[in-house]
Amino acid sequence: MQHLQKLISDSIQNSQFPNQPTNLYDPIRYFLSLGGKRIRPALTLVAAEMFDIGEITDALPAAKSIEYFHNFSLVHDDVMDKAPLRRGKATVHEKWDLNVAILSGDGLLVKAYDELANSNPLYIADLLKTFNRVAMQVCEGQQLDMDYEHTDKISMDQYIEMIRLKTSVLLGGALQMGAILAEANLSDQKLIYEFGEYIGIAFQLQDDVLDAYGNPETFGKQIGGDILINKKTYLLVKLMEIIKEEDLPRLQNLLNATIQDNPDKLLDMLSLYQSYNIKEYADKLKDAYTQRAFERLSAINIPKHKKETLITLSTQLLIREQ
Ligand code: IPE
Ligand code: IPE
Ligand code: MG
Ligand code: MG
Ligand code: MG
Repeated sequence: MQHLQKLISDSIQNSQFPNQPTNLYDPIRYFLSLGGKRIRPALTLVAAEMFDIGEITDALPAAKSIEYFHNFSLVHDDVMDKAPLRRGKATVHEKWDLNVAILSGDGLLVKAYDELANSNPLYIADLLKTFNRVAMQVCEGQQLDMDYEHTDKISMDQYIEMIRLKTSVLLGGALQMGAILAEANLSDQKLIYEFGEYIGIAFQLQDDVLDAYGNPETFGKQIGGDILINKKTYLLVKLMEIIKEEDLPRLQNLLNATIQDNPDKLLDMLSLYQSYNIKEYADKLKDAYTQRAFERLSAINIPKHKKETLITLSTQLLIREQ
């Protein structure tokens, strides 16, 4: 698997962008140079290999295209989430400004399509359909995520649907694109996509937990960022579901207060989470979705040893600290 990851990072590192205008291309170069875990392109390559693509490099354009799309979505997500830090460095809108973040994000999206066009023409129509389907769903999920910040209470079903859209479908799509390139049949494409969807839900649950409990040394993002903006994370949605009447005013006060009003907003919210064991609920649900994912993988009718790389990769991404 390391050779696949190297293939991806070398190839992204080698991509060339013009120098002018610097305020368009510098942020693109900057953001790509920060790396990240490169999970999604790895999923594309691993799926392609699993379904016996002849030449793994044939899946590289699709893999890179998914990663460019992901990076585009992060540059804009950081604006929407008012995030100061990404991958341990300043976000684009912090380092430059809002307009630069909008436009360089757009540039990354164009780059995603540009890269996808380098795929074998035989598969481009199918790849595009999958890519566009999940890309639009990511936008839908992001809009729900924004809307829910200003919704008093959402149900757990609404939360799961929101993270399925904003996060999971892209992992599913990355895998399905690898399967398309390896000419997997439609039923296997569906199974591998659903595997990605369930793993993606577990992944976002973990992300919500890390946002509150992560190690600032390794996480690379601002700890507690979600709490500061009253994001409807799993932690908050679960708390609102089970909180006792007598603690409601305390929660309401915390939600009404900015960090300027109450410098202890973060610690107070964490102590509420603690008293309701919210993290434990999150860990349990994450395990349940992981198990569902692995059931889908088992249903794919290929020799077991061919699934090993995907199992290793997904296990790694679920125990991540960053
Ligand atoms: C961050 O994704 C966005 C989420 C869906 C939680 P990653 O955690 O994969 O981000 P990078 O690419 O490794 O920085
Ligand atoms: C990420 O959700 C979803 C997308 C970027 C589409 P988050 O907002 O939780 O991701 P992070 O925590 O900023 O990486
Ligand atoms: Mg977000
Ligand atoms: Mg965010
Ligand atoms: Mg997050």
